[in-house]
Amino acid sequence: MPSRLAVLASGRGSNLQAIIDHFDSLARERVAKVVLVASNRADSPALIRAATASIDIANFNAADDGSELLSLLQTFRIDLVVLAGYLKRIQHKVIREYAGRIINIHPALLPAFGGEGMYGARVHEAVIASGAEESGVTVHLVDDEYDRGPIVAQWRVAVDRADTAESLAARVVNVEHAVYPRAVEMVAVLQQLESKRTD
Ligand code: GAR
Repeated sequence: MPSRLAVLASGRGSNLQAIIDHFDSLARERVAKVVLVASNRADSPALIRAATASIDIANFNAADDGSELLSLLQTFRIDLVVLAGYLKRIQHKVIREYAGRIINIHPALLPAFGGEGMYGARVHEAVIASGAEESGVTVHLVDDEYDRGPIVAQWRVAVDRADTAESLAARVVNVEHAVYPRAVEMVAVLQQLESKRTD
């Protein structure tokens, strides 16, 4: 049985699209499928992408103690939660229940250029302002601290002297689209092996 993925997204949803396309392309051999896309923002373009792909969508309150999100994940029998441009902290109640089963992507080489308030263009602006010669992509498991959970995969992207935040962001997001679906797949496979072992 494929792992049941929930993707949480509040932005344009290009990583969500890459994940949907990746698992669609695997067809019968796929180890996971997106069964829910949820957002704290009703106007997130990611929800439109999900609806177009006939995936269930939901809105939840990100300002509560996590009860609403947790009950949504349980209702949809979610195995793995994938954050794709979701910018709020995941409440402890959800992290406790889904320990090791929440995965995030960050557009830089963590632990550098991460932490509260570091997302989207701000990350690339900070990288360029620092004079760093390389940036990249980090996929990591989510724990109670922003951008600090165990790293699953990293990929480097060179910073050019002429880069603006926009040009760097464009190269980084292309790498995200290649790396994230495969990292999600790997975590899903490991999770399935682990649950067979403990059955
Ligand atoms: C991605 O670049 C992702 O790494 C970043 O938001 C963008 C979402 O784009 N996430 C963070 O900065 C989290 N700290 P998308 O909505 O097109 O997938």
